[in-house]
Amino acid sequence: MADSIQLSLDGKTYQYPLVTGTEHERGIDISRLRSDTGLITLDPGYGNTGSCQSAITYIDGDKGILRYRGIPIEEFANHPNFIEVAWLLIFGRLPNKAEKDRFSDRLTGNAHLHEAMKHTFEGFPITAPPMAITSAMINTLGCFHSELYSLNDEVLLEEAAARLISKIRTIAAFTYRRVNGLPYIYADPKLRYCANFLHMMFSMPYQQHLVDQEIEDALNLIFILHADHEQNCSTSTVRMVGSSKANLFASCAAGVCALWGPLHGGANVEVLDMLEKIHAGGMTAEKYIELSKKKDNNIRLMGFGHRVYKNYDPRAKMLQSVCERVLKKLNVKDPLLDIARKLEELALKDEYFVARKLYPNVDFYSGMIMRAMGIPTNMFTVLFAIGRLPGWIAHWKEQHDDPASKIARPRQIYTGPVDRHYVPLDQR
Ligand code: ACO
Repeated sequence: MADSIQLSLDGKTYQYPLVTGTEHERGIDISRLRSDTGLITLDPGYGNTGSCQSAITYIDGDKGILRYRGIPIEEFANHPNFIEVAWLLIFGRLPNKAEKDRFSDRLTGNAHLHEAMKHTFEGFPITAPPMAITSAMINTLGCFHSELYSLNDEVLLEEAAARLISKIRTIAAFTYRRVNGLPYIYADPKLRYCANFLHMMFSMPYQQHLVDQEIEDALNLIFILHADHEQNCSTSTVRMVGSSKANLFASCAAGVCALWGPLHGGANVEVLDMLEKIHAGGMTAEKYIELSKKKDNNIRLMGFGHRVYKNYDPRAKMLQSVCERVLKKLNVKDPLLDIARKLEELALKDEYFVARKLYPNVDFYSGMIMRAMGIPTNMFTVLFAIGRLPGWIAHWKEQHDDPASKIARPRQIYTGPVDRHYVPLDQR
């Protein structure tokens, strides 16, 4: 197999090396292209641009494969432990018992926020979008732990990761309490990560919210399935910000902002909106499918299709069965689930969807599970951020540890006016 590629331009030939990954993906190393030829590459949306080499997550979108540090995502279904997966992503291997216990203790010890941060929550209007509060509070958190702005060894990195992963959960729960005018509930050190989150969300000072093991497992799995997805928009944002040597807190706060958009983490909200509209409007699933295929409207079957997966998104497959189990356990009869099932059944045998390889994605069922747990729609993307945080930390660390990493600074093809002159105000 060739290990380089030739480019011929204006009678000259240039040679560029091919880089091959462990799963035999190949890319052209064009880092010398501009100095050799004066040319740059143009790739809006970066669909064909590799920004780095990474050993964290592998995706094969045609085969529907997703692996974290080499482990197929399906293997976490029977052991849904988000904390273990977080450590795996960040440090590259499953933790042994001592490492897992140490990390769990650090998470437990860091669940509280500095009391002064409560005043910051009070400063937000109750109409503030939860993702805006989450991002702002992660940066605020950094101000209280500025000794962790510089992370030059793994011990400090683990401490910073534990603080962020533990405290984002408290920030999320306090955000929900703030916008709903509810009293803040502090973490309970006896509870594990996901049960503690639901306790801080839903307990009252006079009544503890009890969490069933099956629900705790389901939330672990939702977080695990969102934990990393290689160079997606928010992760690339974290790497971009981190490339300037910005600290971990600032880089992750930027990741939350990128995730906020409806084309990224906000899509699970859109699925629920679609199902609610179909339900409220008394429209049939058949009618909606027909509308979603037309090009003269903006209607799409939300939760279907993916830029990378041209096969069943493996995360959607797992969440479908979790959804059935959670709704059964909570005895929720949700008419939206019936609509979702019908839409899926129709789309999977419809020539339009089959020909375009449009399958359910991770957002198709995750919203329904969270809704059954009592999570309001405006918190869905915040839960996505909790899940994605270990991935962001892993990528920040990988880049930080790489001696060859450089500040990310793309180029452009300029299309503005050519040389012209300043005109004084009285002559314009
Ligand atoms: N419903 C109906 N038609 C669709 C859908 C859909 N959900 N998705 C794609 N198509 C059609 C397009 O109209 C286009 O048809 P054409 O070839 O006749 O013009 C064809 O399929 C290809 O679509 P693109 O938009 O070019 O595919 P792309 O890979 O760029 O987009 C995307 C992927 C944005 C996810 C798209 O499938 C979509 O909008 N899906 C619905 C929104 C959604 O669920 N987003 C969540 C993604 S998962 C995540 O981000 C966590």
